[in-house]
Amino acid sequence: MDNLKNFRRTNYCGELRLSDAGKTVSLCGWVQRQRDLGGLIFVDLRDRTGLVQLSFDDSTAKDIFEKASTLRSEYVVAATGLVRERESKTNKIATGDIEVYVSELRLLAKAETPPFEIVENSKANDMLRLKYRYLDLRRPDMQHAIATRHKVTKVARDYFDEQGFLEIETPMLTKSTPEGARDYLVPSRVHPGKFYALPQSPQQYKQLLMLSGFDRYMQIARCFRDEDLRADRQPEFTQIDLEMSFVNEDDVMEIQEGFLKRVFKEVLDVDVQTPFLRMPWREAMDRFGSDKPDLRFGFEIKDISDIVKDCGFGVFSGPVAEGGSVRLINVDGHAADFPRKKIDKLADFVKTYKAKGLAWTRLHDGQVTSSYQKFLTEEENRAILERANAKDGDLVLIVGDAKDEVVFAALGALRCECAKQLGILDPRDFKFLWVTEFPMFEFSEEENRYVAMHHPFTAPMDEDLDKLETDKKNCRAKAYDIVLNGTELGGGSIRISVPETQEAMFRALGFTNEDAQERFGHLINAFKFGAPPHGGLAYGLDRLCMLMAGAESIRDVIAFPKVQNASEPMTSCPDFVDDKQLDELNLNVTRREETSDEE
Ligand code: AMO
Repeated sequence: MDNLKNFRRTNYCGELRLSDAGKTVSLCGWVQRQRDLGGLIFVDLRDRTGLVQLSFDDSTAKDIFEKASTLRSEYVVAATGLVRERESKTNKIATGDIEVYVSELRLLAKAETPPFEIVENSKANDMLRLKYRYLDLRRPDMQHAIATRHKVTKVARDYFDEQGFLEIETPMLTKSTPEGARDYLVPSRVHPGKFYALPQSPQQYKQLLMLSGFDRYMQIARCFRDEDLRADRQPEFTQIDLEMSFVNEDDVMEIQEGFLKRVFKEVLDVDVQTPFLRMPWREAMDRFGSDKPDLRFGFEIKDISDIVKDCGFGVFSGPVAEGGSVRLINVDGHAADFPRKKIDKLADFVKTYKAKGLAWTRLHDGQVTSSYQKFLTEEENRAILERANAKDGDLVLIVGDAKDEVVFAALGALRCECAKQLGILDPRDFKFLWVTEFPMFEFSEEENRYVAMHHPFTAPMDEDLDKLETDKKNCRAKAYDIVLNGTELGGGSIRISVPETQEAMFRALGFTNEDAQERFGHLINAFKFGAPPHGGLAYGLDRLCMLMAGAESIRDVIAFPKVQNASEPMTSCPDFVDDKQLDELNLNVTRREETSDEE
């Protein structure tokens, strides 16, 4: 095998252009493919910038020509040669006008045949790609996604630095404060029976840094949450985490809009209009059935409970009588795209959101077909279609349920599903939105109590301060989410900086003083020493990169992600450890059957 003695790379493969013709260049990379045409050999050489063609012919030194004939896909080589204009140009690759006529060739490593082809848009199975992630990452689309992530991170550091933020690291080994997702725990060897928790976010530390006077903090922070995974959730993920002192909501939002404008311009050359639209949570739910509405299309939700509350059709009047509602969306202009069979599929779809069914009216080519009209009076039917603003060519879809949450969840998801099926979602159309005035609390069926919707350090809105302990359902928070195209990119709030309010908040959450001291004593006590008003926000860096790279899953912008069951197919972690390690940690483990790695 050759080595790199007295060899120095001069260029990346993908950067060479016709203007380089006549230059002698030295390149390194992987063989994409080798074509041996007898007296001619062509080798496509690949590095992270792209491909270039190396050529060898009967004037090439014999030993070099022979070496070139042994090259196979994914062999690692170094080559020196003359850049020259190609006879048959191609516009399929950026270097298609030239080739490198090789005068020196070194074989640096051979390679086995990879389990899948190293090409853009691989059709290989996801599990296989993740098992051989180091090969998957060689593919141009993955190289691009990871490079995009680097750029986003760099712009974040540059921008926030220019705005006077200090990057400060906070600990990875922290105290478990089980409010929120499940913690990942780390056993302590020195303190038998005690555990650290990996941080779900640097929330408490960043607030303490405000108390310490750092005024503007940022961190590219790794966070850990043991929760069910989805396309936009990983057990470990990264936040661009921020906190500022002496600010209100407007100050925080303005700084963030500046960042998003900058990052979209620098990384994608997209001009984002600021300020972003703001919408109270209640309005977002009422109009879009979601606290992270996708504003790239309409199909807004309308309430028809008042029209159907006394109708003779129990499927509609029942939910209203039971305290719920009946609402609709109008997939306007698209009746033709949804024949009866497709509507039946949509009915199955809403059932996955616990809706009992889907009522519909289809206005197509002057014909009106409907699943429910025969049960209502003419006047009721007309009122419904009027509320929907329905005209010929429209499709009206209705869900009623005794629980409003079910109606919103089902219709919110349905409007997105229809848009998806219609193919009207342009990934390059970026619609930002601030959702504000979130409820302070949400009722947890599991715990049978109110829990903090954002986190327990979020300040109530000034006008709702007196509702903190007396009217939890209607108490709103100074919390805001930044939403992009139906994804929650980030969330934050103005924090409680008054110790008495923090105590009231813990009482509202059902903690005794002792509980609160035990779990959050460090924060409660710290706030007694002069806490500045402060607030902040954290972006999901992975989600931001996913949307910017046009990827479907945050997995595609994370070099080494986990799969659905939180394992990593490449290293097969998590894994058992030696009994000796367990002994040192004073742990006794009951081993159970492993679940499958397959998703
Ligand atoms: P929150 O819990 O809303 O707020 O998280 C902020 C952002 O982090 C991203 N995110 C995730 N990304 C990938 N996988 C996950 N499992 C995951 N969970 C969250 C989302 C989300 O909007 N400390 C507060 C922020 C603050 O108040 O300043 C916090 O963590 O994009």
